[in-house]
Amino acid sequence: MINVVGLGYIGLPTALMLADSGVEVIGTDINKEVIETLRNGKVTFEEEGLTSLFKSALEKGIQFSESYSESDFYIISVPTPYNKVNKKIDPSYVIGAIKQVLKVCKKEAIIVIESTVSPGTIDQYVRPMIEESGYKVGIDVHLAHAPERILPGQMIQELRLNSRTIGADNLKIAQKVKDIYSSFCEGEIATTEIRTAEMTKVVENTFRAINIAFANELTKLAHQEKMDVYEIIKIANMHPRVNILNPGPGVGGHCIPVDPWFLVGDYPRLTNLISTALEINESMPEHVLSRIHEIMEENGIKDKNKIGIYGLTYKSDVDDVRESPTLQMFEKMSEKFSTPFRVYDPMVTKKIVDSQVFDFDQFLEESEVIVIMQNHSHIKENINKLQNKLLLDTQNFIENSYKL
Ligand SMILES: NC(=O)c1ccc[n+]([C@@H]2O[C@H](COP(=O)([O-])OP(=O)(O)OC[C@H]3O[C@@H](n4cnc5c(N)ncnc54)[C@H](O)[C@@H]3O)[C@@H](O)[C@H]2O)c1
Repeated sequence: MINVVGLGYIGLPTALMLADSGVEVIGTDINKEVIETLRNGKVTFEEEGLTSLFKSALEKGIQFSESYSESDFYIISVPTPYNKVNKKIDPSYVIGAIKQVLKVCKKEAIIVIESTVSPGTIDQYVRPMIEESGYKVGIDVHLAHAPERILPGQMIQELRLNSRTIGADNLKIAQKVKDIYSSFCEGEIATTEIRTAEMTKVVENTFRAINIAFANELTKLAHQEKMDVYEIIKIANMHPRVNILNPGPGVGGHCIPVDPWFLVGDYPRLTNLISTALEINESMPEHVLSRIHEIMEENGIKDKNKIGIYGLTYKSDVDDVRESPTLQMFEKMSEKFSTPFRVYDPMVTKKIVDSQVFDFDQFLEESEVIVIMQNHSHIKENINKLQNKLLLDTQNFIENSYKL
């Protein structure tokens, strides 16, 4: 039996995939509401294919509990935020979860840390804590790291098809972990040592952050020169060895704006490129604000109540608002406008900010300028309702609109 600890965006689908593949699974979360919701037969967030996977996993016997279970295999999938002052990882959730696991695990249990961690976290924080608790790593318990690469919106498909990395202290443990993940993962599984697996995951997200930053920097440069950045990128990408990404209104979510900071925090003198890239990405919500300001001036609009923001999530067609560009923009608004603009997002049914409205027609009626921060399928389906509006399209999918 496998105990999956932490049933959020990563832990829940992982637990369900395992159960669906016939593995006996108990999912544990310290959040009572999460467990109650799952026990009541409902999923805790929106994701393509999650509900049917959940149904199938329930039929195959998955269980949910607020307590940790006695087991010989654990998957830890708890948050790993960074300290915004020194940029280093905050490993307290991982440490806290493993401390609880140690109280109930069987001898020689394998503890797989699936949470993204800064390179060296397991050596620096996890091993010493286990030893201080009176256990010997490699004798009483074994450690492994199996970071996750899935893209929200395509999680289920990517869990099945993506290749992945497993880091362990020896080949025998690596193989055992690989066997478990192979129950649902059809992608290639590379095995390596733990520190390399930790570094690999953070490097992947850093690569993404830097490449997005390049596109974002080009956008600002092209805007100043009154040039079309999208045309420049399209033509440049015809070069056989050039592949510039799309610019955007900022980078959100729990991974790309967070994980590269781990490297900056630990190696401040060796990460100039990385820290500059992160700062460029973090400056994009402010660039959107200044574009709004320019559009208002150009059209003689003085009343900020005429502005409506479409999109509160950090990605299209998901309901996750963590670190979203819109929320980042609202944080910075006080400099140019006092209170946040009206905002609407069809994917977000909970109230996140005071200025949020829940009726699309009311949103349209009250907004003269609409800033599209996310291209949810919903807006694509309702594009005809946007006629007669001034549009700032940060996602570049509507012709004849203002761009970044
Ligand atoms: N969300 C993504 O797209 C994504 C992608 C790749 C990797 N990751 C990484 O996966 C990890 C988990 O991220 P997430 O997005 O699933 O986070 P999340 O916040 O959605 O879920 C974490 C869950 O862990 C629970 N939890 C916290 N402490 C616990 C404890 N001691 N015992 C049991 N449960 C506990 C919380 O209640 C929460 O439900 C992070 O390290 C993240 O960086 C996330």
